[in-house]
Amino acid sequence: MEVSKNIVELAWQALEDSIINYRGLPVGTVAACDPHMSSLNYDQCFTRDFAVSALAFLMKGETEIVRNFLLETLTLQSWDKRMECFQPGQGLMPASFKVVRGKNNEEHIHADFGEHAIARVAPVDSGFWWLFILRAYVKASNDWSLVHSSEFQTGIKLILDVCLTTRFDMFPTMLVPDGSFMIDRRMGVYGYPLDIQALFYVSLRTAKELLEPEDEYIAVVEERLGNLAYHLRSYYWLDLQILNEIYCYKVEEYGITAINKFNIYPDTIPEWLKEWLPEPGGYFVGNLGPGRMDFRFFSQGNLMAIVSQLALEEQSQSIMDLISVRWESLIGRMPIKVCFPAIEGRDWETITGCDAKNIPWSYHNGGNWPFLLWLFAAAAQKTNRVELGYMALEVAASRLFKDKWPEYYDGRHGRLIGKEARRYQTWTIAGFLVAYEILNNPKHLDLISFPEDTVVIACSQPLPGFSG
Ligand code: GLC
Repeated sequence: MEVSKNIVELAWQALEDSIINYRGLPVGTVAACDPHMSSLNYDQCFTRDFAVSALAFLMKGETEIVRNFLLETLTLQSWDKRMECFQPGQGLMPASFKVVRGKNNEEHIHADFGEHAIARVAPVDSGFWWLFILRAYVKASNDWSLVHSSEFQTGIKLILDVCLTTRFDMFPTMLVPDGSFMIDRRMGVYGYPLDIQALFYVSLRTAKELLEPEDEYIAVVEERLGNLAYHLRSYYWLDLQILNEIYCYKVEEYGITAINKFNIYPDTIPEWLKEWLPEPGGYFVGNLGPGRMDFRFFSQGNLMAIVSQLALEEQSQSIMDLISVRWESLIGRMPIKVCFPAIEGRDWETITGCDAKNIPWSYHNGGNWPFLLWLFAAAAQKTNRVELGYMALEVAASRLFKDKWPEYYDGRHGRLIGKEARRYQTWTIAGFLVAYEILNNPKHLDLISFPEDTVVIACSQPLPGFSG
């Protein structure tokens, strides 16, 4: 394979350079080490970004930094039950943290719960990524004593509490505000975005593995897993056959015999989709709620669905078929589009609020994000389509080092370095390394992927009142 060992070594060096120390111990990695751009909040260690670094370290056998990260961030989790709106709710994990020096030059950790992000939205995904890191750590180190300690068991359950609380809706999916995850600015990803639902599924499966077997949460987790899996596999899935059904949907049906369960109007099917959706090929749509199906393709949710076994075997293969047939639109000159297609014109004005950073085919709005390469490589390995993984890795290797590891790329095919991309972006570097390691050693997949779960299938049921 055509990836030079030299680039891999330089990437390891760059990753080591991003390490943050706290009181003499490594605890995380900064988001970017760009010497030429004001760092804004990129000098922090983001929970979601560190998940990729953590995998790279674990695959190299360096478990200590990951253990320290878990211990430190657990102390930052919000533990108090609060009714006060200006404080993080109980169970929330920080979006990021930073080491600061106090009066007597003593080091402290300062946590950020989204206050410093542009959208000021609480990071719904941080707790999910934290669980993901914890599971990968346990798998790599076999250090079960850490996870069985009462602090960690409580931490896991507090994360579950925020997710499983009953709110104002009655779906198994989680209702979230716009910009509450990797896409952290307005992008029309409020409601029930796929990326969050896939992470929610991974977290429930993780909790099931890491909680004490006799814990009372296990039954609740299993039931939710079944309902969530059923909901996503049945109602989010789209292929040509289902598109044909939606195209002829009747609307305004009431009661349990309704076929068009979410009252989706066929006129909302976008023109691009009618030509773009290949055969064979399919994917999970980006969002689903009453009267709303967001037909955009979101990579993280779809790839995570493959790796976590949320997607059924046939669905996993269909997603890989789609990526392979639509290679130019989804991978092009840099793996991989965060979402496809971009929102443009009047839609861009109203949905993003004229966000100049999210102009069409840039940043979160159809930009290409190399950090996602790790997840693509994992999905390729999981579906036995490693040749696709290698192809993507080669595309990335031909540019990333030369371009100084940019945060993202712009343009329909990802040919331009992102307008405001940081250089030496840590998860770009780590994503490349993890992809390289996974493709060269399938055993690494154990840290990330899940086996099929018969209990999940047994608990599956359609929405109440719907005939399924
Ligand atoms: C951007 C990304 C966010 C990431 C952060 C730090 O804001 O949208 O997901 O965590 O940069 O890299």
